[in-house]
Amino acid sequence: MNVIITGASRGIGGELAKHYAKKGKVYAVARDEKRLKELQKENKNIIPIVCNLSNIDEVRKLKFSDIDLVICNAGISLPHAPDFTPYVEFEKLFKINFLSIHALLERIVPDMQKRKKGKIVFISSLAGVVASPTSLPYSASKRALNSYAQSLRNMLAKYNIKVINILPGFIKTDLTAKNDFYMPFLMELDEGVKRIITAIEKEKKKEYAFPKRFYYILKIFNMLPISIQDKILQKFA
Ligand SMILES: NC(=O)c1ccc[n+]([C@@H]2O[C@H](COP(=O)([O-])OP(=O)(O)OC[C@H]3O[C@@H](n4cnc5c(N)ncnc54)[C@H](OP(=O)(O)O)[C@@H]3O)[C@@H](O)[C@H]2O)c1
Repeated sequence: MNVIITGASRGIGGELAKHYAKKGKVYAVARDEKRLKELQKENKNIIPIVCNLSNIDEVRKLKFSDIDLVICNAGISLPHAPDFTPYVEFEKLFKINFLSIHALLERIVPDMQKRKKGKIVFISSLAGVVASPTSLPYSASKRALNSYAQSLRNMLAKYNIKVINILPGFIKTDLTAKNDFYMPFLMELDEGVKRIITAIEKEKKKEYAFPKRFYYILKIFNMLPISIQDKILQKFA
């Protein structure tokens, strides 16, 4: 089994890399070469691929073949603030969280189409279900990813390529450690990763949002009239 995992140096991606290295070769993409090499020392099946995903030219130079599973996991968030994000920061986040995904898949999907097999997994977020006024670029990038996943899943179905979109709530990683607000249903890393792996390995899973209680609250919120949704959201702005 050949697997690519982006953002594999730590957090969710790091744990996924350790798991999939027990099953085959893992191309672990991230910037932190030292950390990737430490992971390789733990398991020789982990192959460090040092790449800055905010540099799209670097991503487009990557070469892979015979990939069975690609997990597009890398992502960043900006500090939560009701401020209008400067363009440069917005662009960087969008490159890492969204555009680099298409650049990477351009290097992988044609080969999967020829082989008529493969699985593509996106790590989106519940932040794409209700767009917070304090995380404009992050919410927008994840909502864009949800749309991309739906299009791609139905575009590639005839090639027997499966696309799974995963929308986690809050999980304890470096990404959430810097949040200074209450995070409802905050989950331990190992529990979150266990749920992600179960979803990836389920034959018919297309989308998996968790924790369910948080997801249903957000879905019910989305059914309220827009004017009421806005009144509530503006309290956070
Ligand atoms: N934690 C949560 O509560 C939560 C909830 C919902 C969704 N998610 C999503 O889950 C994914 C993983 O998040 P996490 O919580 O595990 O975050 P994390 O612990 O901060 O890890 C982020 C990973 O992305 C990599 N990365 C960041 N910038 C990069 C760049 N420019 N080029 C290449 N790699 C880069 C980092 O590696 P280097 O620093 O070595 O480059 C690291 O391996 C993200 O897409 C996030 O949006 C997380």
